[in-house]
Amino acid sequence: MAETGAETGAARPWSAVVLTLFPEMFPGPLGLSLAGKALAEGVWTLDAVDIRGYARDRHRTVDDTPFGGGAGMVMRPDVVSDAVAANHTPERRLIYPSPRGRVLDQALVRELAAGPGVTLVCGRYEGLDQRAIDAWSMEEVSVGDVVLSGGEPAALVMLDAVVRLLPGVTGKAESLAEESFETGLLEYPHYTRPQVWDGRTVPEVLVSGHHGRVAQWRREQAEAITRNRRPDLWARYVEKE
Ligand code: ADE
Repeated sequence: MAETGAETGAARPWSAVVLTLFPEMFPGPLGLSLAGKALAEGVWTLDAVDIRGYARDRHRTVDDTPFGGGAGMVMRPDVVSDAVAANHTPERRLIYPSPRGRVLDQALVRELAAGPGVTLVCGRYEGLDQRAIDAWSMEEVSVGDVVLSGGEPAALVMLDAVVRLLPGVTGKAESLAEESFETGLLEYPHYTRPQVWDGRTVPEVLVSGHHGRVAQWRREQAEAITRNRRPDLWARYVEKE
């Protein structure tokens, strides 16, 4: 079996390759905080590749007008395919961020974190010529029912979600295990000092020192919040329990 970072701890870093017309957007926010520290420590690697480097003409053209007419420009399949061929290796998942894709969830994030890495192909303008998507059997993944200006912000979202799950990146294992979606429930509310702020108090049970009652209160809160805000998650949770 192929060796992955997740199995061995540190043998090979989790690797992200991002094909983009805007490589300066990376690592962007992922160069800071937990992800940035992990990047500097070699827990994961990030290679942002300029698709324009694979253009074939003097003007370095990467897009053209759509056949059939209509607004906007379409990224050329030959240029994008050359960029993929030169930078993608088949052990990584090949993902095309797109509003048409399967919606990203924590189950997919866990799957990606358990593998050796991803190649993300970022579209701009009206998107990528369908033949490049088909020829490479790209997986289309959406970060939600919104339209972004390109695949880059979606790629940053996906990488952020994955990197924080890599071994050693997020401090306490318990904080990962208890957070929203991992339990199938949205998370219970949190409180810290001061105990009274602006006339608002902290729920009594949290200062009782009674661990059993605290745990029960938190579960009840998580259940009520999930039932009220996300009937879809609640239905799945009830079915599973
Ligand atoms: N590109 C544009 N909008 C997107 C979205 N919602 N998800 C992923 N990629 C996108």
